Amino acid sequence: MSIEELAEEVDNCRKCGLWKTRNNVVVGGGSIDSEIMLVGEAPGYNEDKQGEPFVGRAGDVLDMLLETIGIGRENVYIANILKCRPPKNRNPMKEEIKACTPYLDRQIEIVRPRIICPMGNFAAGYIMEKFGLKPDSIGSIHGQVFKIRNLLLKGSIIPLYHPAAAVYNPDLKAVLMQDFRLVSKVKNDQKI
Ligand code: URA
Ligand code: SF4
Repeated sequence: MSIEELAEEVDNCRKCGLWKTRNNVVVGGGSIDSEIMLVGEAPGYNEDKQGEPFVGRAGDVLDMLLETIGIGRENVYIANILKCRPPKNRNPMKEEIKACTPYLDRQIEIVRPRIICPMGNFAAGYIMEKFGLKPDSIGSIHGQVFKIRNLLLKGSIIPLYHPAAAVYNPDLKAVLMQDFRLVSKVKNDQKI
């Protein structure tokens, strides 16, 4: 399946209740040839309005972080756990994650990144479990490199704090900058 076919399918999705309140589905963005895949939580107000991931304030932080390691948006692929915005940006519910993550699974199969960075607790929980790792709070696993070698991923999982958490928190921003430098280092070191 191509990313376009997947996008068309997700655009018409009604597998959980979130379709009722969405304005736009946010499938993903960036290049499917990327070595790095970033996984966020769910669209927010601006993303729902524009149909693109990370275009609001969290997106500004993300752009800044990518810029500090010399990587542009066009050099990463960005997806979310949920493709539709939860009302008032509430946390994703278990059933919604279950209904929506098969799309993320297919995105991973299409992009076949060498580095997957789940951002925040919900993304980290899903990705860690998917790759047979023990999920833990993002505070204890961020900035660690989990090496994976299986049919789906020959590379690393590097959990990160969610950029939204750093919007008003300079300390977290510093931690994120440090963790992004690690991502850049792993990207440059990692040979298949
Ligand atoms: N936060 C997310 O997790 N994803 C987005 O796309 C925007 C904000
Ligand atoms: Fe479908 Fe996912 Fe949107 Fe729910 S959140 S309607 S599963 S695309």
